[in-house]
Amino acid sequence: MPSTAKPYDAIVLGAGAAGLMCAARAGQRGLKVAVLEKAEKPGKKILISGGGRCNFTNIEAGPENYLSANPHFAKSALARYTPQDLIDLVEKHGIAWHEKTVGQLFCDGSAKQIVQMLLDECPDDLVEVICNAEVTAVERDVGRFAVMASGEVYIAPNLVIATGGPSIPKMGATGFAYDLARQFGLKVVEPRPALVPLTLGGEDVLFRELSGVSAPVVARTGKTSFDEAALFTHKGLSGPSILQISSYWRHGEEIGITFLPQADADWLLDLKRDKPRATVRSALREHLPDRLADALAEKLGIDRELGNVPDKALRTAGARLADWRFAPTGTEGFAKAEVTIGGISTAELSSRTMEAEKVPGLYAIGEAVDVTGWLGGYNFQWAWASGVACAEALSA
Ligand code: FDA
Repeated sequence: MPSTAKPYDAIVLGAGAAGLMCAARAGQRGLKVAVLEKAEKPGKKILISGGGRCNFTNIEAGPENYLSANPHFAKSALARYTPQDLIDLVEKHGIAWHEKTVGQLFCDGSAKQIVQMLLDECPDDLVEVICNAEVTAVERDVGRFAVMASGEVYIAPNLVIATGGPSIPKMGATGFAYDLARQFGLKVVEPRPALVPLTLGGEDVLFRELSGVSAPVVARTGKTSFDEAALFTHKGLSGPSILQISSYWRHGEEIGITFLPQADADWLLDLKRDKPRATVRSALREHLPDRLADALAEKLGIDRELGNVPDKALRTAGARLADWRFAPTGTEGFAKAEVTIGGISTAELSSRTMEAEKVPGLYAIGEAVDVTGWLGGYNFQWAWASGVACAEALSA
């Protein structure tokens, strides 16, 4: 190790949600911590999150809201640092908040308050958050890690990988966590974009003309479904229900959309009886935006008075509206993905401490790990909970 190396008890790589929470809690336990951040300021993803108001947790967050090769992995950390713990912290800092969509908690003011809260939680004399420090190399020697960052060398017996995943590369996000994990012989579950818009082509390309139209739907793939809004875009489909389903969707699969979630199976037959002069188009326009109603009516190919349409055709149309099949051609990729699925394999880590079982002193937390939450504050809750679990396990 070079003689100019700066010694710490722990080095945290990345000043995002997970890294800052971990550093704050470790500092409060009396550990001397360096947080190395390549950006010019900490918490950049927090700042843009939730439209600038940061959806900082979800009061319903539980292990069932996360995807991972090992669905049990997140249980321990999530149980030990709960949404209520985060609410208590937010309130301790006088940050006003509100519940938006069910369970989703946002700042009334600005996401900046969450970053400031995390920085204020870091004891000044023990935690140094060092920005413009891009980590380029890490070495391990006799139980100590040496970290090279922007011309400086930092050393510590504990190293925490908190550099996130590659979603939104234009913000500087990279797969650095995975490179580092592989360097130390840890497996990485193949990363792919999640909470991401889906693209449409082929038969479905006409729907792209509906760009800007949204409607409440149920989106489904396999046994998983989400009852939220969908939005048509100039590339395909987005909106909360689609972002949610994208995390479960695999290339080559279809997704199913229920356009009128509240409608009975035979609603068109009932309408034929009550209003035989109505058309499918006029019936759909009662419940859906006009442009969407028109496109669906056209695709169904029975745009005449219901009284003149055979019952069988109406039953078929009703069934199609209840499970409209789309065959996405892909996703909009990491450039538009809110998070990354996959990452450092949970099989390599202790679910209690986040420490790599084969590399004592090496930890991984937050989005870098193969634990991915639903849309709605779940990903930050994982960042907080995994950060705390790690901080409590670090030793000087
Ligand atoms: P995060 O990515 O936050 O932090 C990693 C840090 O490491 C970054 O600051 C990066 O610069 C740094 N870094 C990377 N490589 C480095 C290197 N080589 N050297 C030094 N530093 C390095 N979630 C949620 O729960 N509620 C929400 O409202 C939103 N909203 C939202 C909006 C948008 C647009 C996006 C893209 C994402 C969200 N998310 C979200 C997801 C959430 O932002 C994400 O899950 C967490 O930020 C993950 O926290 P981490 O600390 O793990 O990584």
